[in-house]
Amino acid sequence: MKFLVVGSGGREHALCWAIAASPLCDAVYCAPGNAGIAKEAKCLPHLGADNLDGIVAFARDNAIDLVVVGPEAPLCAGLVDRLEAAGIKAFGPTAAAARIEGSKGFMKDLCAKYGVRTAKYRRFRDPVLARSYAAQQSGRVVVKADGLAAGKGVLLPETTAEAVAAVEQAMIKGAFGKAGAEVVIEEFLEGEEASFFVLVDGKTALPFGTARDHKRVGDGDTGPNTGGMGAYSPAPMVDAAMHERIMTEIINPIVAGMAAEGAPYKGILYAGLMLTADGPSVIEFNCRLGDPEAQVLLPRLQSDLIPAMFAARDGVLDQFDLRWYDDAAVCVVMASNGYPGDYAKGSQIKGLENLSGIMDVIAFHAGTSADGDRVLAQGGRVLGITGLGGSIREATARAYSAIEQIDWPGGFCRRDIAAREA
Ligand code: AMP
Ligand code: GLY
Repeated sequence: MKFLVVGSGGREHALCWAIAASPLCDAVYCAPGNAGIAKEAKCLPHLGADNLDGIVAFARDNAIDLVVVGPEAPLCAGLVDRLEAAGIKAFGPTAAAARIEGSKGFMKDLCAKYGVRTAKYRRFRDPVLARSYAAQQSGRVVVKADGLAAGKGVLLPETTAEAVAAVEQAMIKGAFGKAGAEVVIEEFLEGEEASFFVLVDGKTALPFGTARDHKRVGDGDTGPNTGGMGAYSPAPMVDAAMHERIMTEIINPIVAGMAAEGAPYKGILYAGLMLTADGPSVIEFNCRLGDPEAQVLLPRLQSDLIPAMFAARDGVLDQFDLRWYDDAAVCVVMASNGYPGDYAKGSQIKGLENLSGIMDVIAFHAGTSADGDRVLAQGGRVLGITGLGGSIREATARAYSAIEQIDWPGGFCRRDIAAREA
């Protein structure tokens, strides 16, 4: 069978790696891909993830058996709808279902309607009303742009004055463009954060692993937010009892609710949760695998990913089972100096060949290009080094000792990924 993965990051490298490992895979293409993905897949550097027409045409012309869409933007733009309408099988939610990530207001209303715990909230389209609401709140609030804002649309003011300024930034100054024309203002939740993933077929959800990510750029959770500087799986605070609660109190009602709304959810559903004193509460839903969470979840998956994706697309997950390795996985992201601000492109990364012999280490590429035999950094997040081991501690040690082998003065990584579990 032939596959096409859409995207160019570490998540898509992990997807190509898992697909290429299956005996069911004859060929895998990646649009556009990167230098690391090129080891697993045939990259299509001129076919960007936003070129929906081009992707549909390529899939049709090359008789692709399944298109796997990695990032949220093409999902929210309706790539899966377009492919399926053209008779091409696709893995991922439709645009209507992807609104669970594409509109925070939609997500909050869905939780409220189906009795799923989430922070108390109000939606605003009018900046004057939003500002006066923010000014009246005595407790701490969070201000969120309604639409997709590349992970930057959440503001965490600490005072009432900062909350008012956050509303102005989103709604008046246009810091998030159109995504901030509507905002959600919600109460600030206290607790431990965990990410919970499920594979969904429209009706049935199968657990797809738990993880924790590290969003801030600096050690000790300092500095600005990033797309994610590292992750580990499993998330130890999600014990068996909490797992059961999350499935029955959050996942199952949301999956049933989406179907009742006429937008049955298929694909990977990623729940960002706060484990509060009152129980697990939804911070956000994403309509896809996380990045770098995919780089710790997929290496732990023992089952073949391909039949699982077809079963989700075909609506037969109730007859399906997934097996997982007991191993823990830790991914440490290496980013270009300066990220998430401005950074230089084109610096050479040496020593990656040293990693190919190391057991239980996988070097996923996020933003690289090849120049002959040389690997060059081309993005903010550039590499994701995943270590596997019998414990999170062991997996962490493997990831960091692999990083010692990489010679890249143009990049850096956090030194405390998964340190709280040590
Ligand atoms: P998001 O981009 O939705 O993942 O939000 C970014 C981060 O903001 C989350 O990982 C949380 O740490 C934090 N956050 C979002 N909403 C809340 C909330 N209601 N209470 C506390 N922290 C929050
Ligand atoms: N690492 C966070 C995300 O993929 O949304």
